[in-house]
Amino acid sequence: MTSRHASELDLPSIDDPELSDAERQELVASLAQDHWIVRNAIGYSVLQYADVVAVLRDKRWHSATSKIPEMMGITDPEFLENRRVSILSAEGDVHTRLRRLVGKSFSPRSADRLRPFMREVISDLVDNVASTGRADVAVDICEPYPIPIICELLGAPRDDWQLFSRWAEDVLRIFNGNVLEELDVIKQAQAELDEYSRGLIADRRNDPRDDLLTELIAAEEAGDRLSTDELVMMVDAVIIGGTDTTRNQLGCAVGLLTGYPEQWNLLADDPDLAPPAVEEVMRYFGSVRGTVRFASEDIEYRDVLFPAGTIMMTSMAMANRDSSVFDDPGTFDITREPSGQPQLTFGSGIHFCLGAALARAELQEALPILARRMPDLAVDGAIEWKPSTTAIFGPAHLPVTFTPT
Ligand code: HEM
Repeated sequence: MTSRHASELDLPSIDDPELSDAERQELVASLAQDHWIVRNAIGYSVLQYADVVAVLRDKRWHSATSKIPEMMGITDPEFLENRRVSILSAEGDVHTRLRRLVGKSFSPRSADRLRPFMREVISDLVDNVASTGRADVAVDICEPYPIPIICELLGAPRDDWQLFSRWAEDVLRIFNGNVLEELDVIKQAQAELDEYSRGLIADRRNDPRDDLLTELIAAEEAGDRLSTDELVMMVDAVIIGGTDTTRNQLGCAVGLLTGYPEQWNLLADDPDLAPPAVEEVMRYFGSVRGTVRFASEDIEYRDVLFPAGTIMMTSMAMANRDSSVFDDPGTFDITREPSGQPQLTFGSGIHFCLGAALARAELQEALPILARRMPDLAVDGAIEWKPSTTAIFGPAHLPVTFTPT
């Protein structure tokens, strides 16, 4: 059978500028029941679990991360030319080599070493608000939480946390809608961070310690090592991949759990529930709702021809609600039986989140402490959510009251 060209398919579209945020989400959810693929503003979206996994595992679909600046309309040649290979967007042998060299340093064992520090950080943040019985969880807890952990992971001194926080915020502006106006700020932060990373790398070469940078400097595979530029890129990738994702996922978790007080109490009473609770929160309400690929060559899939250059969104949020994989997927239950297939908020395939073990540990440590220290948690007014189209989704403001502790 000859494949049909994708453009000839009679597909529903989710690209209607008249729709509100909530209406678009509702439309996508209803289409996901009967359609494996829909049209969007820049290409197509796959919505069901099997197709999302198939696309993410198919090496002909390349990460579109490197195309984000162009998609955002950036034409500044200095910015475009200065970009280097990143693990987030590399493909083929280049990517395989990088993952081989850095993989061990991101193992669950490495993440576990930071658990006592994570408990310390989250406890300090709750201490600031616990006696008042009031907080904006997004601003007071989620926002600051990942920065000290990433600094500790890398081996950056405590005095520099604020610097990191600002660089992370400014570099991440690349995902904002008004990136063109913010380009100078982004470039400045990137340059400062690069210079700082080079200094830290030089320090660790002279004075090895028990931290990620020292480990990455020493990492060797068959006589191969990371260059200084690649080490700088890894610091960048950890900041881009590991700060906003974690803080927003924690915000999604707490925001969601305000609607399920009995499950909040369960978490407070039984910290062993933390690992399944994190998987269920990420399944039901992930902070990364989708990712983007482009066809590196003409691709035939399900008897459809997607010409080279086609943009394909993979909706992990919809796949995580696929009833052929998860029983009763619309029910949020931290005690649910595992389905045997993972939730997809960490992605799948060769770009599967490098920091998944660290992120899981951060969330597993934070949630039970928050549940214990913020009993009777209730939303104080309304949660202000970021637009659902935001690349990394979560609450902008999460005002709560609770019984002071
Ligand atoms: C809850 C928090 C997190 C979520 C939801 C998340 C989600 C993801 C997803 C979906 C991808 C794949 C993107 C794609 O396929 O296009 C990814 C990749 C990545 N993540 Fe995470 N992430 C989280 C935390 C972290 C942390 C803590 C770190 C670092 C310490 C990190 C570092 C990375 C890196 C370096 C990649 C690129 C891997 C590659 O391309 O080989 N992430 N993450």
